Amino acid sequence: MTKVLAAVAWPYANGPRHLGHVAGFGVPSDVFARFMRMSGHAVLMVSGSDEHGTPILVLADQQGVTARELVDVNHAVIAHELADLGCSYDLYTRTTTVNHYAVAQELFRQVWANGYMIERTTRGAISPSTGRTLPDRYIEGTCPICGYGEARGDQCDNCGNQLEPEELINPRSKINGETPEFVETQHFFLDLPALADSLRAYLEDRAASGTWRPNVIKFSLNILSDIKPRAMTRDIDWGIPVPLDGWRELPTKKLYVWFDAVIGYLSASIEWARRQGAPERWREWWNDPEALSYYFMGKDNITFHSQIWPAELLGYMGAGDKGGEPGAYGALNLPTEVVSSEYLTMESQQFSTSRGHTILVRDVLTRYQPDALRYVICAAGPETSDADFTWREFVQRTNSELVAGWGNLVNRTATMIHKNFGEIPVCGPLAPQDQAILDLVAGGFERVGELLRRQRLRAATAEAMRVVSEVNAYISRTEPFKLKAPEQRERLGTVLHVLAQCVSDCNTLLAPMLPHSANAVHAVLGGEGTFMPMPHVEQVNDLDDGRPYPIITGDYRDTPRWERTPVRAGTPIGKPSPVFVKLEDSVVAEELARMGS
Ligand code: MF3
Ligand code: ZN
Repeated sequence: MTKVLAAVAWPYANGPRHLGHVAGFGVPSDVFARFMRMSGHAVLMVSGSDEHGTPILVLADQQGVTARELVDVNHAVIAHELADLGCSYDLYTRTTTVNHYAVAQELFRQVWANGYMIERTTRGAISPSTGRTLPDRYIEGTCPICGYGEARGDQCDNCGNQLEPEELINPRSKINGETPEFVETQHFFLDLPALADSLRAYLEDRAASGTWRPNVIKFSLNILSDIKPRAMTRDIDWGIPVPLDGWRELPTKKLYVWFDAVIGYLSASIEWARRQGAPERWREWWNDPEALSYYFMGKDNITFHSQIWPAELLGYMGAGDKGGEPGAYGALNLPTEVVSSEYLTMESQQFSTSRGHTILVRDVLTRYQPDALRYVICAAGPETSDADFTWREFVQRTNSELVAGWGNLVNRTATMIHKNFGEIPVCGPLAPQDQAILDLVAGGFERVGELLRRQRLRAATAEAMRVVSEVNAYISRTEPFKLKAPEQRERLGTVLHVLAQCVSDCNTLLAPMLPHSANAVHAVLGGEGTFMPMPHVEQVNDLDDGRPYPIITGDYRDTPRWERTPVRAGTPIGKPSPVFVKLEDSVVAEELARMGS
Protein backbone atom coordinates (compact mmCIF):
# COMPACT_ATOMS: atom_id res chain seq x y z
CA MET A 1 0.00 0.00 0.00
CA THR A 2 1.41 3.32 -1.10
CA LYS A 3 0.42 6.80 0.04
CA VAL A 4 -0.84 8.70 -2.98
CA LEU A 5 -1.54 12.41 -3.00
CA ALA A 6 -3.98 13.44 -5.73
CA ALA A 7 -3.52 17.20 -5.99
CA VAL A 8 -6.08 18.91 -8.19
CA ALA A 9 -5.67 22.47 -9.54
CA TRP A 10 -7.55 25.11 -7.57
CA PRO A 11 -10.26 26.81 -9.63
CA TYR A 12 -10.66 30.59 -9.36
CA ALA A 13 -13.76 31.48 -7.36
CA ASN A 14 -14.85 33.91 -10.04
CA GLY A 15 -17.95 32.10 -11.25
CA PRO A 16 -19.41 28.68 -11.96
CA ARG A 17 -17.21 26.13 -13.73
CA HIS A 18 -17.48 25.43 -17.43
CA LEU A 19 -16.77 22.12 -19.12
CA GLY A 20 -13.15 23.02 -19.87
CA HIS A 21 -12.31 22.96 -16.17
CA VAL A 22 -13.78 19.58 -15.39
CA ALA A 23 -12.66 17.94 -18.64
CA GLY A 24 -9.03 18.99 -18.21
CA PHE A 25 -8.46 17.85 -14.66
CA GLY A 26 -11.65 17.59 -12.53
CA VAL A 27 -12.89 14.26 -13.89
CA PRO A 28 -9.44 12.81 -14.81
CA SER A 29 -8.13 13.35 -11.28
CA ASP A 30 -11.22 11.75 -9.78
CA VAL A 31 -10.96 8.67 -12.02
CA PHE A 32 -7.31 8.30 -11.05
CA ALA A 33 -7.99 8.74 -7.31
CA ARG A 34 -10.86 6.24 -7.39
CA PHE A 35 -8.78 3.71 -9.30
CA MET A 36 -5.82 4.07 -6.91
CA ARG A 37 -8.11 3.56 -3.91
CA MET A 38 -9.57 0.46 -5.56
CA SER A 39 -6.01 -0.77 -6.05
CA GLY A 40 -5.48 -0.64 -2.30
CA HIS A 41 -3.53 2.62 -2.03
CA ALA A 42 -4.06 5.26 0.64
CA VAL A 43 -5.19 8.24 -1.43
CA LEU A 44 -5.45 11.79 -0.16
CA MET A 45 -7.25 13.97 -2.70
CA VAL A 46 -7.25 17.69 -2.06
CA SER A 47 -8.15 20.93 -3.77
CA GLY A 48 -10.11 24.09 -3.12
CA SER A 49 -11.20 27.43 -4.46
CA ASP A 50 -8.55 30.01 -5.33
CA GLU A 51 -10.13 33.14 -3.89
CA HIS A 52 -7.58 35.94 -3.96
CA GLY A 53 -6.24 37.97 -6.85
CA THR A 54 -7.15 40.81 -9.10
CA PRO A 55 -9.76 39.15 -11.33
CA ILE A 56 -11.88 38.54 -8.24
CA LEU A 57 -11.38 42.07 -6.99
CA VAL A 58 -12.31 43.59 -10.35
CA LEU A 59 -15.40 41.39 -10.62
CA ALA A 60 -16.50 42.25 -7.09
CA ASP A 61 -16.16 45.96 -7.91
CA GLN A 62 -18.29 45.49 -11.03
CA GLN A 63 -20.97 43.72 -9.01
CA GLY A 64 -20.87 46.21 -6.16
CA VAL A 65 -20.00 43.57 -3.56
CA THR A 66 -16.88 42.93 -1.51
CA ALA A 67 -14.35 40.36 -2.67
CA ARG A 68 -15.25 38.29 0.39
CA GLU A 69 -18.96 38.29 -0.50
CA LEU A 70 -18.18 37.34 -4.07
CA VAL A 71 -16.01 34.35 -3.16
CA ASP A 72 -18.43 33.15 -0.49
CA VAL A 73 -21.06 32.76 -3.19
CA ASN A 74 -18.79 31.27 -5.84
CA HIS A 75 -16.98 28.86 -3.56
CA ALA A 76 -20.31 27.33 -2.54
CA VAL A 77 -21.45 27.14 -6.17
CA ILE A 78 -18.25 25.39 -7.28
CA ALA A 79 -18.24 22.99 -4.33
CA HIS A 80 -21.75 21.81 -5.24
CA GLU A 81 -20.92 21.37 -8.93
CA LEU A 82 -17.84 19.30 -8.23
CA ALA A 83 -19.64 17.17 -5.65
CA ASP A 84 -22.59 16.59 -8.00
CA LEU A 85 -20.15 15.42 -10.63
CA GLY A 86 -18.95 12.86 -8.10
CA CYS A 87 -15.42 14.25 -7.55
CA SER A 88 -14.29 12.37 -4.46
CA TYR A 89 -12.16 14.92 -2.64
CA ASP A 90 -11.05 14.10 0.85
CA LEU A 91 -11.09 17.84 1.23
CA TYR A 92 -12.14 20.59 -1.13
CA THR A 93 -11.54 23.78 0.82
CA ARG A 94 -10.63 27.39 0.02
CA THR A 95 -7.70 29.81 0.24
CA THR A 96 -9.42 32.21 2.66
CA THR A 97 -9.10 29.94 5.70
CA VAL A 98 -6.93 30.97 8.65
CA ASN A 99 -5.13 27.64 8.25
CA HIS A 100 -4.18 28.39 4.64
CA TYR A 101 -2.90 31.84 5.56
CA ALA A 102 -0.74 30.34 8.31
CA VAL A 103 0.74 27.63 6.06
CA ALA A 104 1.51 30.03 3.21
CA GLN A 105 3.15 32.41 5.68
CA GLU A 106 5.21 29.62 7.27
CA LEU A 107 6.54 28.69 3.84
CA PHE A 108 7.29 32.30 3.01
CA ARG A 109 9.18 32.91 6.25
CA GLN A 110 11.38 29.86 5.83
CA VAL A 111 12.11 30.45 2.15
CA TRP A 112 13.03 34.00 3.15
CA ALA A 113 15.12 32.86 6.12
CA ASN A 114 16.99 30.46 3.83
CA GLY A 115 17.84 33.38 1.58
CA TYR A 116 15.71 32.50 -1.44
CA MET A 117 13.38 35.51 -1.23
CA ILE A 118 15.12 38.58 -2.49
CA GLU A 119 13.81 42.08 -2.04
CA ARG A 120 13.89 44.25 -5.11
CA THR A 121 12.70 47.62 -6.21
CA THR A 122 10.67 47.40 -9.37
CA ARG A 123 8.39 49.70 -11.21
CA GLY A 124 4.70 48.97 -10.96
CA ALA A 125 1.72 50.51 -12.67
CA ILE A 126 -0.96 52.56 -10.94
CA SER A 127 -4.16 54.00 -12.26
CA PRO A 128 -3.76 57.81 -12.32
CA SER A 129 -7.49 58.37 -11.72
CA THR A 130 -7.94 56.04 -8.71
CA GLY A 131 -4.40 55.79 -7.36
CA ARG A 132 -4.87 52.01 -7.13
CA THR A 133 -2.24 49.62 -8.38
CA LEU A 134 -2.84 48.02 -11.74
CA PRO A 135 -1.74 44.40 -11.91
CA ASP A 136 0.21 43.33 -14.97
CA ARG A 137 -2.57 41.37 -16.53
CA TYR A 138 -4.87 44.39 -16.43
CA ILE A 139 -2.55 46.29 -18.69
CA GLU A 140 -2.81 45.76 -22.40
CA GLY A 141 -0.67 47.03 -25.24
CA THR A 142 1.37 46.12 -28.28
CA CYS A 143 3.88 43.29 -27.85
CA PRO A 144 7.45 44.59 -28.28
CA ILE A 145 8.54 41.21 -29.62
CA CYS A 146 5.89 40.22 -32.17
CA GLY A 147 3.80 43.36 -32.57
CA TYR A 148 0.55 41.71 -31.44
CA GLY A 149 -1.83 44.53 -30.43
CA GLU A 150 -3.49 42.92 -27.42
CA ALA A 151 -0.55 41.60 -25.41
CA ARG A 152 -1.01 41.56 -21.64
CA GLY A 153 1.39 43.10 -19.15
CA ASP A 154 2.53 39.69 -17.95
CA GLN A 155 2.66 37.81 -21.23
CA CYS A 156 1.85 37.91 -24.90
CA ASP A 157 -0.72 35.29 -25.86
CA ASN A 158 0.38 35.53 -29.48
CA CYS A 159 4.10 34.74 -29.21
CA GLY A 160 3.99 33.29 -25.69
CA ASN A 161 6.80 35.48 -24.32
CA GLN A 162 6.77 36.64 -20.71
CA LEU A 163 6.64 40.44 -20.58
CA GLU A 164 7.00 43.27 -18.13
CA PRO A 165 4.17 45.82 -18.38
CA GLU A 166 6.62 48.63 -19.02
CA GLU A 167 7.86 46.89 -22.15
CA LEU A 168 4.43 47.19 -23.82
CA ILE A 169 4.08 49.76 -26.56
CA ASN A 170 1.07 52.07 -25.95
CA PRO A 171 0.08 50.51 -22.60
CA ARG A 172 -3.51 51.04 -21.46
CA SER A 173 -5.63 49.91 -18.53
CA LYS A 174 -8.09 47.13 -19.36
CA ILE A 175 -10.38 48.41 -16.63
CA ASN A 176 -10.94 51.95 -17.89
CA GLY A 177 -8.65 52.48 -20.89
CA GLU A 178 -6.44 55.11 -19.30
CA THR A 179 -2.67 55.14 -19.66
CA PRO A 180 -1.05 53.67 -16.55
CA GLU A 181 1.60 55.52 -14.62
CA PHE A 182 4.70 53.61 -13.51
CA VAL A 183 6.03 54.16 -10.00
CA GLU A 184 8.71 52.49 -7.86
CA THR A 185 7.57 49.69 -5.58
CA GLN A 186 9.25 47.05 -3.37
CA HIS A 187 8.66 43.35 -3.88
CA PHE A 188 9.97 39.95 -2.93
CA PHE A 189 11.26 37.74 -5.71
CA LEU A 190 11.80 34.00 -5.50
CA ASP A 191 15.44 33.45 -6.34
CA LEU A 192 14.86 30.82 -9.01
CA PRO A 193 18.42 30.99 -10.40
CA ALA A 194 19.76 29.92 -6.97
CA LEU A 195 17.40 26.93 -7.09
CA ALA A 196 17.95 26.07 -10.75
CA ASP A 197 20.57 23.33 -10.24
CA SER A 198 18.38 21.50 -7.74
CA LEU A 199 15.40 21.97 -10.00
CA ARG A 200 17.29 20.55 -12.95
CA ALA A 201 18.41 17.53 -10.93
CA TYR A 202 14.81 16.97 -9.86
CA LEU A 203 13.41 17.29 -13.38
CA GLU A 204 16.11 15.10 -14.91
CA ASP A 205 15.30 12.42 -12.39
CA ARG A 206 11.62 12.75 -13.30
CA ALA A 207 12.47 12.63 -17.02
CA ALA A 208 14.42 9.42 -16.41
CA SER A 209 11.34 7.83 -14.86
CA GLY A 210 9.78 8.09 -18.32
CA THR A 211 6.30 8.42 -16.89
CA TRP A 212 5.51 12.07 -17.56
CA ARG A 213 3.65 13.04 -20.69
CA PRO A 214 6.44 13.86 -23.17
CA ASN A 215 5.39 17.43 -23.91
CA VAL A 216 5.09 18.25 -20.20
CA ILE A 217 8.59 17.09 -19.24
CA LYS A 218 10.10 18.64 -22.38
CA PHE A 219 8.50 22.00 -21.67
CA SER A 220 9.51 21.86 -17.99
CA LEU A 221 13.17 21.18 -18.77
CA ASN A 222 13.14 23.81 -21.50
CA ILE A 223 12.05 26.71 -19.33
CA LEU A 224 15.03 26.09 -17.02
CA SER A 225 17.40 27.58 -19.59
CA ASP A 226 15.90 31.04 -19.17
CA ILE A 227 15.21 31.10 -15.47
CA LYS A 228 14.81 34.49 -13.70
CA PRO A 229 13.72 35.59 -10.25
CA ARG A 230 9.94 35.93 -10.10
CA ALA A 231 7.84 38.26 -8.01
CA MET A 232 6.03 36.50 -5.16
CA THR A 233 4.32 39.59 -3.75
CA ARG A 234 1.87 41.98 -5.33
CA ASP A 235 0.48 45.46 -4.81
CA ILE A 236 -3.09 44.51 -3.99
CA ASP A 237 -5.24 44.78 -0.89
CA TRP A 238 -6.97 41.37 -1.12
CA GLY A 239 -4.78 38.45 -0.17
CA ILE A 240 -2.39 37.01 2.38
CA PRO A 241 -0.21 39.55 4.24
CA VAL A 242 3.57 39.25 3.82
CA PRO A 243 4.67 37.75 7.17
CA LEU A 244 7.65 40.01 7.88
CA ASP A 245 7.99 42.99 10.17
CA GLY A 246 7.46 46.18 8.28
CA TRP A 247 5.45 44.34 5.61
CA ARG A 248 2.70 42.64 7.56
CA GLU A 249 1.05 45.99 8.29
CA LEU A 250 1.12 47.29 4.73
CA PRO A 251 -2.47 47.11 3.46
CA THR A 252 -1.54 46.84 -0.20
CA LYS A 253 1.26 44.26 -0.10
CA LYS A 254 0.09 40.65 -0.36
CA LEU A 255 1.44 37.29 -1.45
CA TYR A 256 1.02 36.62 -5.17
CA VAL A 257 -1.13 33.71 -6.38
CA TRP A 258 1.96 31.57 -6.95
CA PHE A 259 2.87 31.85 -3.33
CA ASP A 260 -0.75 31.42 -2.33
CA ALA A 261 -3.06 29.00 -4.14
CA VAL A 262 -0.27 26.61 -5.13
CA ILE A 263 0.54 26.15 -1.42
CA GLY A 264 -3.05 25.02 -1.00
CA TYR A 265 -2.07 21.42 -1.73
CA LEU A 266 -0.10 21.40 1.50
CA SER A 267 -2.45 23.57 3.56
CA ALA A 268 -5.48 21.51 2.50
CA SER A 269 -3.65 18.31 3.53
CA ILE A 270 -2.98 19.89 6.92
CA GLU A 271 -6.57 21.09 7.26
CA TRP A 272 -7.77 17.58 6.39
CA ALA A 273 -5.56 16.07 9.11
CA ARG A 274 -6.75 18.62 11.65
CA ARG A 275 -10.37 17.84 10.76
CA GLN A 276 -9.64 14.12 11.25
CA GLY A 277 -8.50 14.91 14.77
CA ALA A 278 -5.01 13.65 13.81
CA PRO A 279 -3.19 16.92 13.10
CA GLU A 280 0.10 15.27 12.08
CA ARG A 281 -1.34 12.73 9.64
CA TRP A 282 -0.71 14.91 6.58
CA ARG A 283 2.98 14.06 7.04
CA GLU A 284 2.35 10.53 5.73
CA TRP A 285 1.80 12.06 2.27
CA TRP A 286 4.39 14.82 2.45
CA ASN A 287 7.36 13.66 4.54
CA ASP A 288 7.58 9.98 3.59
CA PRO A 289 9.88 9.79 0.55
CA GLU A 290 8.01 6.66 -0.60
CA ALA A 291 4.74 8.57 -0.93
CA LEU A 292 3.68 9.51 -4.47
CA SER A 293 2.06 12.75 -5.58
CA TYR A 294 0.17 13.42 -8.80
CA TYR A 295 -0.80 16.96 -9.75
CA PHE A 296 -3.65 17.47 -12.22
CA MET A 297 -4.10 20.70 -14.18
CA GLY A 298 -4.54 22.40 -17.55
CA LYS A 299 -1.48 23.17 -19.64
CA ASP A 300 -1.42 26.88 -18.74
CA ASN A 301 -0.43 25.76 -15.22
CA ILE A 302 2.58 23.57 -16.04
CA THR A 303 5.22 26.21 -15.15
CA PHE A 304 3.76 26.71 -11.74
CA HIS A 305 3.65 23.03 -10.88
CA SER A 306 6.89 21.80 -12.44
CA GLN A 307 9.01 24.86 -11.68
CA ILE A 308 7.59 27.41 -9.21
CA TRP A 309 6.06 24.96 -6.71
CA PRO A 310 9.09 22.60 -6.64
CA ALA A 311 11.34 25.68 -6.30
CA GLU A 312 9.30 26.90 -3.34
CA LEU A 313 9.56 23.48 -1.72
CA LEU A 314 13.32 23.31 -2.37
CA GLY A 315 13.75 26.83 -0.98
CA TYR A 316 11.74 25.87 2.08
CA MET A 317 13.98 22.86 2.67
CA GLY A 318 17.16 24.86 2.06
CA ALA A 319 18.03 22.67 -0.90
CA GLY A 320 19.41 25.31 -3.30
CA ASP A 321 22.80 26.94 -3.91
CA LYS A 322 22.49 29.06 -0.78
CA GLY A 323 21.87 26.12 1.53
CA GLY A 324 19.55 26.54 4.50
CA GLU A 325 17.39 24.21 6.50
CA PRO A 326 13.78 22.98 6.48
CA GLY A 327 11.17 24.73 8.58
CA ALA A 328 8.69 23.09 10.96
CA TYR A 329 7.09 21.00 8.20
CA GLY A 330 10.36 19.19 7.53
CA ALA A 331 11.54 17.86 4.17
CA LEU A 332 8.57 17.91 1.80
CA ASN A 333 8.01 15.73 -1.26
CA LEU A 334 8.28 17.28 -4.71
CA PRO A 335 5.63 16.30 -7.30
CA THR A 336 6.05 12.76 -8.58
CA GLU A 337 4.09 13.64 -11.69
CA VAL A 338 2.69 16.76 -13.23
CA VAL A 339 -0.28 15.50 -15.21
CA SER A 340 -1.29 18.28 -17.52
CA SER A 341 -4.11 18.20 -20.03
CA GLU A 342 -4.54 20.16 -23.23
CA TYR A 343 -7.48 22.44 -24.00
CA LEU A 344 -11.11 21.63 -24.59
CA THR A 345 -12.89 23.65 -27.22
CA MET A 346 -16.61 23.54 -27.66
CA GLU A 347 -18.36 23.32 -31.01
CA SER A 348 -14.93 24.20 -32.50
CA GLN A 349 -14.51 27.46 -30.58
CA GLN A 350 -12.65 28.54 -27.46
CA PHE A 351 -14.76 28.71 -24.36
CA SER A 352 -15.56 32.32 -23.58
CA THR A 353 -17.73 33.24 -20.64
CA SER A 354 -17.77 36.87 -21.72
CA ARG A 355 -19.05 36.07 -25.22
CA GLY A 356 -21.61 33.58 -23.88
CA HIS A 357 -19.86 30.77 -25.74
CA THR A 358 -19.74 28.40 -22.82
CA ILE A 359 -21.30 25.30 -21.32
CA LEU A 360 -21.68 25.41 -17.56
CA VAL A 361 -21.22 22.23 -15.58
CA ARG A 362 -24.27 22.91 -13.45
CA ASP A 363 -26.50 23.34 -16.54
CA VAL A 364 -25.35 20.00 -17.91
CA LEU A 365 -25.91 18.36 -14.52
CA THR A 366 -29.46 19.69 -14.16
CA ARG A 367 -30.44 18.28 -17.56
CA TYR A 368 -28.38 15.09 -17.96
CA GLN A 369 -26.89 12.28 -15.94
CA PRO A 370 -23.54 13.11 -14.35
CA ASP A 371 -22.06 9.91 -15.75
CA ALA A 372 -23.10 10.83 -19.29
CA LEU A 373 -20.87 13.89 -18.94
CA ARG A 374 -18.10 11.94 -17.19
CA TYR A 375 -18.23 9.35 -19.96
CA VAL A 376 -17.70 11.73 -22.85
CA ILE A 377 -14.87 13.39 -20.92
CA CYS A 378 -13.22 10.03 -20.23
CA ALA A 379 -13.67 8.73 -23.76
CA ALA A 380 -12.81 11.89 -25.67
CA GLY A 381 -11.29 14.47 -23.33
CA PRO A 382 -8.27 16.74 -24.01
CA GLU A 383 -5.76 14.26 -22.59
CA THR A 384 -2.70 14.66 -24.79
CA SER A 385 -4.08 16.87 -27.54
CA ASP A 386 -6.80 19.50 -27.71
CA ALA A 387 -10.29 18.05 -27.97
CA ASP A 388 -13.60 19.46 -29.12
CA PHE A 389 -16.83 18.95 -27.22
CA THR A 390 -19.92 18.83 -29.42
CA TRP A 391 -23.50 18.18 -28.39
CA ARG A 392 -23.82 15.76 -31.32
CA GLU A 393 -21.01 13.62 -29.96
CA PHE A 394 -22.46 13.83 -26.44
CA VAL A 395 -25.86 12.55 -27.63
CA GLN A 396 -24.33 9.96 -29.89
CA ARG A 397 -21.94 8.51 -27.30
CA THR A 398 -24.64 8.49 -24.64
CA ASN A 399 -27.09 6.64 -26.87
CA SER A 400 -24.82 4.21 -28.69
CA GLU A 401 -22.18 3.48 -26.05
CA LEU A 402 -23.86 3.96 -22.69
CA VAL A 403 -27.51 3.15 -23.49
CA ALA A 404 -27.19 0.64 -26.35
CA GLY A 405 -23.81 -0.78 -25.31
CA TRP A 406 -23.23 -0.97 -21.58
CA GLY A 407 -26.76 -0.19 -20.32
CA ASN A 408 -28.29 -2.73 -22.66
CA LEU A 409 -25.92 -5.47 -21.51
CA VAL A 410 -26.88 -4.81 -17.90
CA ASN A 411 -30.56 -4.69 -18.72
CA ARG A 412 -30.70 -7.81 -20.90
CA THR A 413 -28.71 -9.83 -18.39
CA ALA A 414 -30.83 -8.80 -15.41
CA THR A 415 -34.09 -9.20 -17.30
CA MET A 416 -33.27 -12.75 -18.42
CA ILE A 417 -32.18 -13.74 -14.91
CA HIS A 418 -35.25 -12.17 -13.33
CA LYS A 419 -37.67 -13.82 -15.76
CA ASN A 420 -36.14 -17.29 -15.75
CA PHE A 421 -34.85 -17.69 -12.21
CA GLY A 422 -35.63 -14.64 -10.07
CA GLU A 423 -32.15 -15.02 -8.67
CA ILE A 424 -28.60 -15.55 -9.92
CA PRO A 425 -28.64 -19.21 -11.05
CA VAL A 426 -26.13 -21.87 -10.10
CA CYS A 427 -23.18 -22.26 -12.46
CA GLY A 428 -23.03 -25.68 -14.14
CA PRO A 429 -20.07 -27.07 -16.13
CA LEU A 430 -18.37 -24.37 -18.20
CA ALA A 431 -18.13 -24.70 -21.97
CA PRO A 432 -14.92 -23.43 -23.62
CA GLN A 433 -16.66 -20.25 -24.76
CA ASP A 434 -17.83 -19.56 -21.18
CA GLN A 435 -14.30 -19.91 -19.88
CA ALA A 436 -13.01 -17.77 -22.75
CA ILE A 437 -15.28 -14.82 -21.96
CA LEU A 438 -14.61 -15.12 -18.21
CA ASP A 439 -10.86 -15.01 -18.92
CA LEU A 440 -11.13 -12.13 -21.34
CA VAL A 441 -13.09 -10.06 -18.83
CA ALA A 442 -10.80 -10.97 -15.92
CA GLY A 443 -7.83 -9.85 -18.03
CA GLY A 444 -9.47 -6.44 -18.21
CA PHE A 445 -8.34 -5.64 -14.66
CA GLU A 446 -4.72 -5.86 -15.76
CA ARG A 447 -5.19 -4.08 -19.09
CA VAL A 448 -7.50 -1.26 -17.99
CA GLY A 449 -5.63 -0.94 -14.69
CA GLU A 450 -2.27 -0.44 -16.38
CA LEU A 451 -3.74 2.35 -18.52
CA LEU A 452 -5.40 4.08 -15.56
CA ARG A 453 -2.19 3.91 -13.53
CA ARG A 454 -0.55 5.90 -16.34
CA GLN A 455 -3.48 8.35 -16.56
CA ARG A 456 -4.34 7.06 -20.06
CA LEU A 457 -8.01 7.67 -19.52
CA ARG A 458 -9.17 7.58 -23.11
CA ALA A 459 -7.42 4.28 -23.83
CA ALA A 460 -8.61 2.82 -20.52
CA THR A 461 -12.21 3.74 -21.29
CA ALA A 462 -11.96 2.32 -24.80
CA GLU A 463 -10.53 -0.94 -23.43
CA ALA A 464 -13.26 -1.27 -20.79
CA MET A 465 -15.90 -0.66 -23.46
CA ARG A 466 -14.26 -3.24 -25.74
CA VAL A 467 -14.72 -5.77 -22.93
CA VAL A 468 -18.39 -4.74 -22.76
CA SER A 469 -18.80 -5.40 -26.50
CA GLU A 470 -17.17 -8.81 -26.13
CA VAL A 471 -19.71 -9.72 -23.49
CA ASN A 472 -22.52 -8.50 -25.74
CA ALA A 473 -21.05 -10.69 -28.48
CA TYR A 474 -21.06 -13.65 -26.07
CA ILE A 475 -24.84 -13.20 -25.71
CA SER A 476 -25.22 -13.29 -29.50
CA ARG A 477 -23.12 -16.46 -29.67
CA THR A 478 -24.77 -18.36 -26.82
CA GLU A 479 -28.31 -17.10 -27.49
CA PRO A 480 -29.61 -17.70 -23.95
CA PHE A 481 -33.04 -16.34 -25.01
CA LYS A 482 -33.43 -19.48 -27.17
CA LEU A 483 -32.63 -21.94 -24.38
CA LYS A 484 -36.25 -22.61 -23.52
CA ALA A 485 -36.58 -26.41 -23.32
CA PRO A 486 -36.58 -27.96 -19.83
CA GLU A 487 -33.46 -30.00 -20.66
CA GLN A 488 -31.66 -26.77 -21.53
CA ARG A 489 -32.36 -25.20 -18.15
CA GLU A 490 -29.02 -26.09 -16.62
CA ARG A 491 -27.21 -24.66 -19.65
CA LEU A 492 -29.35 -21.51 -19.46
CA GLY A 493 -28.44 -21.13 -15.79
CA THR A 494 -24.75 -21.46 -16.56
CA VAL A 495 -24.81 -18.87 -19.35
CA LEU A 496 -26.74 -16.43 -17.17
CA HIS A 497 -24.42 -17.02 -14.23
CA VAL A 498 -21.42 -16.33 -16.46
CA LEU A 499 -23.17 -13.21 -17.75
CA ALA A 500 -23.92 -11.98 -14.24
CA GLN A 501 -20.24 -12.41 -13.40
CA CYS A 502 -19.15 -10.57 -16.54
CA VAL A 503 -21.55 -7.68 -15.91
CA SER A 504 -20.35 -7.41 -12.34
CA ASP A 505 -16.73 -7.32 -13.55
CA CYS A 506 -17.44 -4.75 -16.27
CA ASN A 507 -19.12 -2.63 -13.62
CA THR A 508 -15.96 -2.71 -11.52
CA LEU A 509 -13.84 -1.86 -14.58
CA LEU A 510 -16.02 1.15 -15.38
CA ALA A 511 -16.58 2.26 -11.78
CA PRO A 512 -13.75 4.83 -11.63
CA MET A 513 -15.17 6.54 -14.71
CA LEU A 514 -18.88 5.99 -13.99
CA PRO A 515 -19.28 5.85 -10.18
CA HIS A 516 -22.94 6.92 -10.06
CA SER A 517 -24.10 4.28 -12.53
CA ALA A 518 -21.79 1.75 -10.87
CA ASN A 519 -24.03 2.09 -7.83
CA ALA A 520 -27.15 1.64 -9.97
CA VAL A 521 -25.73 -1.48 -11.68
CA HIS A 522 -24.67 -2.85 -8.31
CA ALA A 523 -28.29 -2.56 -7.16
CA VAL A 524 -29.59 -4.19 -10.37
CA LEU A 525 -27.33 -7.18 -9.62
CA GLY A 526 -28.89 -7.51 -6.19
CA GLY A 527 -26.03 -5.84 -4.34
CA GLU A 528 -26.60 -4.09 -1.04
CA GLY A 529 -25.33 -0.75 0.17
CA THR A 530 -23.24 1.65 -1.87
CA PHE A 531 -20.66 0.23 -4.23
CA MET A 532 -18.70 3.41 -5.05
CA PRO A 533 -18.52 5.89 -2.17
CA MET A 534 -19.69 9.39 -3.03
CA PRO A 535 -18.55 12.82 -1.88
CA HIS A 536 -20.85 15.26 -0.16
CA VAL A 537 -20.91 18.95 0.64
CA GLU A 538 -20.72 19.64 4.35
CA GLN A 539 -21.06 22.94 6.19
CA VAL A 540 -18.12 23.35 8.59
CA ASN A 541 -16.55 26.10 10.65
CA ASP A 542 -13.09 27.50 10.12
CA LEU A 543 -10.86 25.62 12.55
CA ASP A 544 -9.35 28.84 13.83
CA ASP A 545 -11.83 31.71 13.55
CA GLY A 546 -15.09 29.78 13.41
CA ARG A 547 -16.37 31.32 10.17
CA PRO A 548 -18.74 28.87 8.42
CA TYR A 549 -18.10 27.56 4.90
CA PRO A 550 -18.93 24.48 2.84
CA ILE A 551 -16.34 21.83 1.99
CA ILE A 552 -16.47 18.69 -0.10
CA THR A 553 -15.46 15.60 1.79
CA GLY A 554 -16.37 11.93 2.07
CA ASP A 555 -15.45 8.60 3.55
CA TYR A 556 -14.00 6.48 0.75
CA ARG A 557 -12.42 3.71 2.78
CA ASP A 558 -15.10 1.18 1.91
CA THR A 559 -14.20 1.09 -1.75
CA PRO A 560 -14.52 -2.05 -3.91
CA ARG A 561 -11.29 -3.85 -4.85
CA TRP A 562 -9.88 -3.69 -8.37
CA GLU A 563 -10.47 -7.38 -8.99
CA ARG A 564 -13.19 -9.91 -9.75
CA THR A 565 -15.73 -10.26 -6.96
CA PRO A 566 -17.49 -13.63 -7.45
CA VAL A 567 -21.26 -13.28 -7.82
CA ARG A 568 -23.27 -15.51 -5.52
CA ALA A 569 -25.88 -17.98 -6.84
CA GLY A 570 -29.18 -17.34 -5.09
CA THR A 571 -28.88 -13.54 -5.01
CA PRO A 572 -32.41 -12.25 -5.82
CA ILE A 573 -32.65 -10.21 -9.03
CA GLY A 574 -35.71 -8.00 -9.52
CA LYS A 575 -37.08 -6.47 -12.68
CA PRO A 576 -34.41 -3.94 -13.69
CA SER A 577 -35.04 -0.34 -14.61
CA PRO A 578 -32.72 1.23 -17.16
CA VAL A 579 -29.47 2.65 -15.80
CA PHE A 580 -28.92 5.22 -18.55
CA VAL A 581 -31.37 7.69 -20.06
CA LYS A 582 -31.59 7.76 -23.85
CA LEU A 583 -31.34 11.27 -25.28
CA GLU A 584 -33.58 12.60 -28.04
CA ASP A 585 -31.88 13.87 -31.17
CA SER A 586 -33.56 17.22 -30.53
CA VAL A 587 -31.16 17.75 -27.60
CA VAL A 588 -28.50 18.85 -30.08
CA ALA A 589 -30.62 21.65 -31.55
CA GLU A 590 -31.91 22.71 -28.12
CA GLU A 591 -28.45 23.01 -26.66
CA LEU A 592 -27.06 24.83 -29.68
CA ALA A 593 -29.93 27.31 -29.41
CA ARG A 594 -29.12 27.85 -25.71
CA MET A 595 -25.56 28.70 -26.66
CA GLY A 596 -26.86 31.14 -29.21
CA SER A 597 -25.15 29.56 -32.19
N1 MF3 B 1 -6.54 29.34 -9.95
C1 MF3 B 1 -5.32 29.23 -10.70
C2 MF3 B 1 -5.63 28.82 -12.12
O1 MF3 B 1 -6.70 28.34 -12.37
C3 MF3 B 1 -4.35 28.31 -10.06
C4 MF3 B 1 -4.68 26.87 -10.11
S1 MF3 B 1 -3.61 25.73 -9.52
C5 MF3 B 1 -2.91 26.20 -8.10
O2 MF3 B 1 -4.82 29.01 -13.00
F1 MF3 B 1 -2.63 25.22 -7.44
F2 MF3 B 1 -1.82 26.81 -8.38
F3 MF3 B 1 -3.69 26.93 -7.44
ZN1 ZN C 1 4.14 38.79 -28.75
